[in-house]
Amino acid sequence: MDDMSLTSTANETLVEHADAAATDAQQPDGQQPTGPQDAGPATGAQADGRSNAEVGADDASVVFHSWSKQGGLKPLPLAGGQGTTVWDHDGNRYLDFSTQLVFTNMGHQHPKIIAGITEQLGTLATVAPAHGNATRAEAARLILQRAPEGFEKVFFTNGGADANENAIRMARLVTGRTKVLSRYRSYHGNTGAAIVATGDWRRIPNEHATGHVHFFGPYLYRSEFWASTPEEECARALHHLERTVQAEGPESIAAILLESVPGTAGIMVPPPGYLSGVRAICDRYDIKLILDEVMAGFGRTGEWFAFDAHDVRPDLITFAKGVNSGYVPVGGVIISSDIAHAFDDRVFPGGLTYSGHPLAAASIVATQRAMAEEGAVENARRIGADVLGPALVELGAKHDVIGEVRGTGVFWALELVADPETREPLPTPTVAALKSDLISRGLLPFATDNRIHVVPPINVTDDEVARALAIYDEAFTAFRP
Ligand SMILES: Cc1ncc(COP(=O)(O)O)c(C=O)c1O
Repeated sequence: MDDMSLTSTANETLVEHADAAATDAQQPDGQQPTGPQDAGPATGAQADGRSNAEVGADDASVVFHSWSKQGGLKPLPLAGGQGTTVWDHDGNRYLDFSTQLVFTNMGHQHPKIIAGITEQLGTLATVAPAHGNATRAEAARLILQRAPEGFEKVFFTNGGADANENAIRMARLVTGRTKVLSRYRSYHGNTGAAIVATGDWRRIPNEHATGHVHFFGPYLYRSEFWASTPEEECARALHHLERTVQAEGPESIAAILLESVPGTAGIMVPPPGYLSGVRAICDRYDIKLILDEVMAGFGRTGEWFAFDAHDVRPDLITFAKGVNSGYVPVGGVIISSDIAHAFDDRVFPGGLTYSGHPLAAASIVATQRAMAEEGAVENARRIGADVLGPALVELGAKHDVIGEVRGTGVFWALELVADPETREPLPTPTVAALKSDLISRGLLPFATDNRIHVVPPINVTDDEVARALAIYDEAFTAFRP
């Protein structure tokens, strides 16, 4: 059984590492790969006349990059974007099937979102969190409209990590308990408790918060439970979780924190009954259930929330990324009534200078309205069920290097293997070379560990999917391990 996601190769950091590695592998002279220069929206982005090499070197000389060795980084500089397309300073254009770090759910430069932010900028560019603000209230109302019955308030944060941080804090305060259980093969953010709740290698050098316990979740392709069917995997994963709860002492456990669909760790859609089974365990032991919808939420899975497909009601929901297509940094916690009211007569000991920043709030309002008006979530569901999903399954059947295709909506993973029989993961330098090749063919992929994640905007068109599929197919056809 492979355990690579628990060790030094697992994470979205490879996206950034691979940019450097891939350009090195492909272009020994250090030049950026050349993408197709087809016609498209006028860019105006090369107005300063600088090349990729100049902007990339300038950036790397003064910007300290995330999750990377800093020496030798050659970030691919992006100059502009429109919808599903981005372009660099050399005029190369790419289909953005990474949605950056899986957040441009409505694509780049969506006119309604830009207009919403611009209008707010002209009215009140900033305000302290203690003041009331109409745009902020509207953002909260639109988010609550998508939550299940019984959710009442939204606490805004700067992003996904601090959303999880504050959800954990709320669960600890209302239960009076400390421990938080979360999955191996998960990512919850890069702050104190969130990084220690994370179940990949990034936790290990940052393990300074206390009260965190990890367990294995369902992942049939590399089952920890010797299961051979989704039903077995589900039942055994739930048994393992309940035994972990009992062994840790239920009276010490404040919360179970789970990504509804683990994203960076491999887009592992839980088998039917798993999330509702976790809810039942939480109910048996008075534990709060926090579902992390930072990556999976707001249309990514073809549902407003990924858990909508799973007959489960959490106590706290965390969000960020897709809620506003990532145009302004923001995240938050959606709070159920009982937890919200627990702080009616008791101070909540938490806050952020930019909590509910009006530019972020305006971007949420505009994004939420655009998603509803344009049927973007329904589009993601249709694309996943009728277009992208079936075509990726076909791609998997055609190319031996694709060990498993899994996902839903516009949230798909191609798990790459050196050997389909043993399922030995494809080594990361080979994945980086494949990533580089995809870029040179005009597609910006999301590559992590031994996987390519196919994660276009939720409003992607059939035509863009067809063009992307042709590029994936060409790259896999040309691929030599
Ligand atoms: C599921 C999940 N939770 C939390 C986070 C952290 O969000 P942020 O980077 O905005 O702090 C991420 C980021 O990728 C994520 O995918």
